[in-house]
Amino acid sequence: MIVGVPKERMEDEYRVAITPAGVRELTSAGHSVNIEKGAGAGSSIPDEDFVRTGARIVADPSDIWAGADLVLKVKEPVPEEYDRLGERRHQVLFTYLHLAALRSCTDALLAGGNTAIAYETVQLPDGSLPLLTPMSEVAGRMAPIVGAHHLMRPGGGGGVLVCGVPGVRAANVVILGAGIAGMAAATLAVGLHCNVTILDRNLERLRQVDHHFRGALETVASSTHAIEESCLEADIVIGAVLVVGARAPKLVSDALVAQMRPGSVLVDISVDQGGCFESSHPTTHSHPTFAVAGSLFYCVANMPGAVPHSSTHALVNATMPYTLEIAEHGWRQAARRDEALARGVNVVEGMVTYEPVAEAHGLPYTPLTLVL
Ligand SMILES: NC(=O)c1ccc[n+]([C@@H]2O[C@H](COP(=O)([O-])OP(=O)(O)OC[C@H]3O[C@@H](n4cnc5c(N)ncnc54)[C@H](O)[C@@H]3O)[C@@H](O)[C@H]2O)c1
Repeated sequence: MIVGVPKERMEDEYRVAITPAGVRELTSAGHSVNIEKGAGAGSSIPDEDFVRTGARIVADPSDIWAGADLVLKVKEPVPEEYDRLGERRHQVLFTYLHLAALRSCTDALLAGGNTAIAYETVQLPDGSLPLLTPMSEVAGRMAPIVGAHHLMRPGGGGGVLVCGVPGVRAANVVILGAGIAGMAAATLAVGLHCNVTILDRNLERLRQVDHHFRGALETVASSTHAIEESCLEADIVIGAVLVVGARAPKLVSDALVAQMRPGSVLVDISVDQGGCFESSHPTTHSHPTFAVAGSLFYCVANMPGAVPHSSTHALVNATMPYTLEIAEHGWRQAARRDEALARGVNVVEGMVTYEPVAEAHGLPYTPLTLVL
């Protein structure tokens, strides 16, 4: 199979959909990999590293699109790429798509006749989303780091050194949600010698966390009362809750923030789902924070974008097994063999095969089983 990897065209997107290690796996299996010149530059991966593991560097993006059976991307095509979608018959696109929120991209894929497999809807039988997990891990691990930075006076915070010094206490870090991002945040905060409290509604989850950290942090059952008590003692609050299919619940009111230590920092990882603090709204890496009632909110909706090198490697580690399945067997056979991958198939040659996308846009829905 010929695999094409264009450079990402979305503003502020520096990731790339393949790594040199991924190229090597594909070329060792007999596939060809064409990568657009400079596609890895934003992730600090030079063209030469791709060439060394067997890729061909192509200067013109039209050649990548027109020549590929399988196109690997990070983000959904942007309008300037829509015309490329119909260039090659039976082409498969494997990328983050978020089609339920993007009518124009859905229409472009339907008109182009592509088969589109969305990273974010690939789902294991236990309900977990293996191609979203790495980004939650990145954002979770970043949260105590950005919290620590902004807690320093030049970062806008109260001037607290998170790890403390002999004779001076370490920061109190409160994490709301003990899922993928919350656990990743806890790992880093414990590593930074902070006093960590993690809250979740799911007691079974808290048992696992307690067992995992063996006393290095405190677990607390989430309730309005417990959140208030914890936040009043906090230097950093990290919001990492998720209610699948719904907006994030508002767990920290402005009135509560007003009673917190002045100069404390609240990092809302959940801001991409509406945010779990009352005044959260999405911010960018160039202007990441704003003040609320004497505290500082950090609400960057695309935290992994700050660390594209690490994010690219984390993402491709997770996508590669599926990419290899598609390249090896073709998407139809790969989807028949792997239920998780089958859930990722959103569009097949002019038909919407993922029900929530059809529902979101009032388009006809064709169950995947009918086209497999
Ligand atoms: N900002 C970013 O750049 C970025 C990057 C990746 C992920 N995210 C977001 O981070 C959030 C967390 O993702 P995840 O993968 O860790 O989800 P997850 O499903 O693994 O974990 C969410 C946890 O929240 C808990 N929860 C739900 N309601 C709660 C409540 N009222 N109180 C306490 N806990 C509650 C759940 O029980 C679950 O354990 C999501 O909104 C995701 O979209 C943001």
